[in-house]
Amino acid sequence: MKILAIETSCDETSASVVSKEPQENHIKLLSNVVASSLILHSKTGGIIPEVAAREQVKFIIPVIKQALIESSLYPPSSKIHLQSSATYRPSIDAIAVTVGPGLIGSLLVGVETAKTLAYSWSKPIIPVNHLLGHIYANFIGEKSKIKFPAITLLVSGGHTDLLLMKNHNNFKWLGGTRDDAAGEAFDKIGRLLNLPYPAGPKIEKLAEEGNPKAFNFPRPMIYSKDFDFSFSGLKTAAWRETKTIKQFNNLTISNFCASVQKAIIDVLVKKTIKSAKEYKVKSILLGGGVASNQKLRNELELNARRSTLNAEIFCPPKNLCTDNAAMIGAYASFHPEKTSWNKITANPELYFYD
Ligand code: KG4
Ligand code: ZN
Repeated sequence: MKILAIETSCDETSASVVSKEPQENHIKLLSNVVASSLILHSKTGGIIPEVAAREQVKFIIPVIKQALIESSLYPPSSKIHLQSSATYRPSIDAIAVTVGPGLIGSLLVGVETAKTLAYSWSKPIIPVNHLLGHIYANFIGEKSKIKFPAITLLVSGGHTDLLLMKNHNNFKWLGGTRDDAAGEAFDKIGRLLNLPYPAGPKIEKLAEEGNPKAFNFPRPMIYSKDFDFSFSGLKTAAWRETKTIKQFNNLTISNFCASVQKAIIDVLVKKTIKSAKEYKVKSILLGGGVASNQKLRNELELNARRSTLNAEIFCPPKNLCTDNAAMIGAYASFHPEKTSWNKITANPELYFYD
């Protein structure tokens, strides 16, 4: 089955073509094009939804065209209109699109484009939950060694959730953040340090030269009995600390970043290992933008090895951790619940339990 996938839930505009044979447990990536308006948001310290959606309106058709060209479904020099079914209809089986959660204006760009193309090309549509897409980035590429049951830690700019995955059709939400998401904590603390948005990758880079024990930041809810998280207290503690620092030199900033990063990772790792032990899982899957943090990947590996756990850890390649359409195509390939173009709507509040 070959799927054209579209993802526009936040500031990225992405299109991808993926394929999967029925008996295979992984998907083949034929193309994955991502256009970002990040440069515009780095100046404003965060995403302005209106700006993101306007850029996506400009990017969406060229990005889809490029994804089709790269997967040899559209001739590179062609002047044929993509939407003109009389002259063009790609050999795909369905169009998958992110329907939520996300920014409403951004979601609408992807959803309405997908509906138009599905109508014009007479193709079915597969609506996809963005959060589940992040998990399925783990099934892209080589033959998958993922065994069930699995714990998935989803850590992005808007979400921090632990899920138990018993099989492809059985997800149980175990817990999540009560306030800020892990990525949001990185971004907001980065803002205190005048780092451009998104601050996560910059904090990781600066932390390489710093001492994670230099500042004693709280590890909120680390020993709580549930699988919930809370990062707003850490943000407040970091803000208070900035008021006591007389001079911010390079070393202080690196120490600050290393200490903040360690506090966030300690909580994520502790809760993930705890849930993996409780449910005796065979695999731990990471997903979401924060999963591209190498320190998080290393600490999780190290702590899993030191524990009594017998689970293998899986992380998507870094370019598939942040938002992309390939992961949406991956989820759709495993759940080809096709519907008609007029049966789907964008839902910014969509969550796991919907
Ligand atoms: O999954 P994603 O691309 O978008 C959402 O669905 O939210 O995640 C973006 C988030 C941002 O908060 C960003 O700061 C964070 O992921 N992030 C990182 C790293 N790379 C991206 N956080 C920590 N370390 C990184 N290397
Ligand atoms: Zn995301």
